This record gives sequence, structure tokens and C-alpha cells, in this order.
Amino acid sequence: MKIAFGCDHGGFIAKQKLFEYFESKGFEVTDYGCFDENSVDYPDIAYPVCKDVQAGDSTFGVLVCGTGIGMSIVANKIKGVRCAHVTDEFSAEMTRRHNDTNVIALGGRISTVEEIVKYVDIFLNTPFEGGRHLNRVNKIKIVEEENFN
Ligand code: RB5
Repeated sequence: MKIAFGCDHGGFIAKQKLFEYFESKGFEVTDYGCFDENSVDYPDIAYPVCKDVQAGDSTFGVLVCGTGIGMSIVANKIKGVRCAHVTDEFSAEMTRRHNDTNVIALGGRISTVEEIVKYVDIFLNTPFEGGRHLNRVNKIKIVEEENFN
């Protein structure tokens, strides 16, 4: 499975750990930066990560900024991307089970690095339940079709 990673300066430490951890677990990983703690603008990173997911090159995207909120806002502007902002284990699991999200956004200034690794581990290892949740995801897609050119 291929995973695309990205962060801004607020998520750099966590992204480094995530990248190393999931590469060591055998995932195919792409790192869209940033590559140090110098200040960058989170839309510049979230965009290429989500275009990678949109194109189907990566199955999932993982984004980390200070709060995770800016990254999640950008991600959810990209057609075909459903991004969850996650700050707890329950949400990490349920957003895969119910929302079939393909991008997770995390807060490097909210959660510890260990918590972030745990949330992403849960996210990547939880299947979509389908059934009634597929009907709801299909309704998200209708909203998307009507509002994105
Ligand atoms: C950067 O200071 C900060 O605004 C960013 O990391 C993120 O939290 C935005 O949502």
C-alpha cells in the first residue's frame, strides 16, 4: 500500500517519525515535505499530497500541521479527497469505518508523536464498513459533484 506524507513546520517532528515508522512496516511511502522546521505554508504541502491521492498513486494521505485544521481544510477542497481531522483513537477508527476517508490530518501541537503514530496506525488498518455508510458517502459525492467543477 502506498502512503503520501506531508507536513508544515508545526508537524515536522511527527511526520519524520511517521515516515520512518511506516516505511519500516513495509508501506511504500512518498514524502512531500517539508524537510526541516523552517516555516512553510501548509496549503503548499497539502495540495500535492492530496493530488497524489486523487490520482490514485497513493491509497492514503497523511498530513500534519500545528493543529491539523489548516491541512484538513485544504484537503477537503480537493475532489475525491475525504479528509478527517483526528485527535483521538476513536475518531481514527470510526472515520475509516463510516466515512471511508482517504486522508488524515493531525496536530503536531495537539497530540504527542506517539499518539499521532497510533492514530495513523489505526486509520491505515481499519476497513470501510460499506452498507448504510456507503449510501452516506455516495451522498457526499453528490454534494461534491454539484459544487466542484
Ligand atoms: C502554523 O503556524 C500553523 O498555523 C499551522 O501549522 C496549522 O496549525 C494551521 O492550521
